[in-house]
Amino acid sequence: MDAICVRGGNPLFGEVRIQGSKNAVLPIMAAALLINDICIIENCPRITDVEYMKLLLSEAGCFVSHSDRKLVIDARCATGERMSKEAVTGMRSSIMLLGAMLGRFGKISSSYPGGCVIGKRPIDIHIRALKKMGVRVREEADGFTAKASHLKGCILNLPFPSVGATENVILAAVKAEGDTYLYNAAKEPEIVSLCAFLNKAGAQITGAGSDRIKITGQKPLHGITYRVPADRIVAGTYVCAVLGAGGHVLLRDAPYGEMESMVRIATLAGAEVAWSGEGLSVLMEQKPRPIANVKTAVYPGFPTDLQSPLLAALTAAEGVSVLEETIFEDRFRIVGELQKMGADIRIEGQKAIVKGGSRLRGACVSAGELRGGAGLVIAGCMADQETVITNRHFIDRGYEDICRDYQNLGVNIVAGKTE
Ligand code: EPZ
Repeated sequence: MDAICVRGGNPLFGEVRIQGSKNAVLPIMAAALLINDICIIENCPRITDVEYMKLLLSEAGCFVSHSDRKLVIDARCATGERMSKEAVTGMRSSIMLLGAMLGRFGKISSSYPGGCVIGKRPIDIHIRALKKMGVRVREEADGFTAKASHLKGCILNLPFPSVGATENVILAAVKAEGDTYLYNAAKEPEIVSLCAFLNKAGAQITGAGSDRIKITGQKPLHGITYRVPADRIVAGTYVCAVLGAGGHVLLRDAPYGEMESMVRIATLAGAEVAWSGEGLSVLMEQKPRPIANVKTAVYPGFPTDLQSPLLAALTAAEGVSVLEETIFEDRFRIVGELQKMGADIRIEGQKAIVKGGSRLRGACVSAGELRGGAGLVIAGCMADQETVITNRHFIDRGYEDICRDYQNLGVNIVAGKTE
């Protein structure tokens, strides 16, 4: 089985270049499908979720080539209406192609995207919004068919600022007749980068980054070159690693302006965090201070994707910390694995109460999903002796080469296989 082996117990020293953002590049790849031209996407991370999206775009008739971190998508011959079940169920964010396929072809047949261990991951908000734009949806046994003879702009108010639903509405509205006004839109930086990509290609979108976005439909779109911003969640993961293990690191290209909530928490925990002009410098010379109450929230609140990495780090704090998960219903899968390493954590509803102070001990643990897996690697860096983390493939979905990054920070870590 694919695994990672870490021999921890030492502080981290060194520097890491932060990769391009997974959650920014995936909707941008979907947006390229809307453009009957060639798009070049630079700083594209080499992760398996990008591989899945490349497969889906190829199935839709695009020509996709990827060398190093430059992705070329030629959508001039795109014709697809159907995506393979394995590709769609293999990757949750395939649902992002819903808006783009409707915008380009007016039709899509798809399986329901896989849920995952962090929650049911419904798409009701997506479907309800698209129906208001004129999409007819027929639910079938193992999926659905969505059709729109023509998409029409309208006024939409999302019941929850869903990131994916915001992205799908934008992707469909770019091709709709008239204007679309989207209220209670998600404000995540990934929405801003998607709209920057589309506006550079000729779209007319205002308000990205706020909860009110206006999209003027049917502006002619042309191919562009666009550079994917750095991944704020990968950068935040490594901030949590330094909080837990100690040390002094430089995170080159970290998107400092998008990390305010992580920087605030790190400072509360006792870290010295500063922007050095080249990257984010994080210095931690003592055990982290416990944090009485961290609540995940939509942007600009503390990101749910950093909840597990922070939970792992706070097992080193002398005292009690409380983390509350408000976005997903089942995002504490890492707790059972951390308990195998000696962590004192109990769950009360949507809260994890961490009684820290004793050093974690090495163990054989298993990643259950992407960010929980990243949290276990942090725990491995903190624990003395050796920790083996199986199911590395979950981590490879969002981290280009987590072993390479930690090796650059002086960690004794290797990727391998267990019998
Ligand atoms: C995006 O997922 C990210 N994924 C997630 O990152 C991230 O955790 C999440 O946004 C929140 O920031 C990508 O961008 C590819 P949502 P998404 O729609 O769009 C509920 C990672 O680790 N909901 O904002 O699926 C949903 O169940 C991943 O990189 C509905 O009920 O998130 C969840 O509880 C994990 N109905 C909440 O809203 C819907 O129709 C937030 O979901 C849609 C969502």
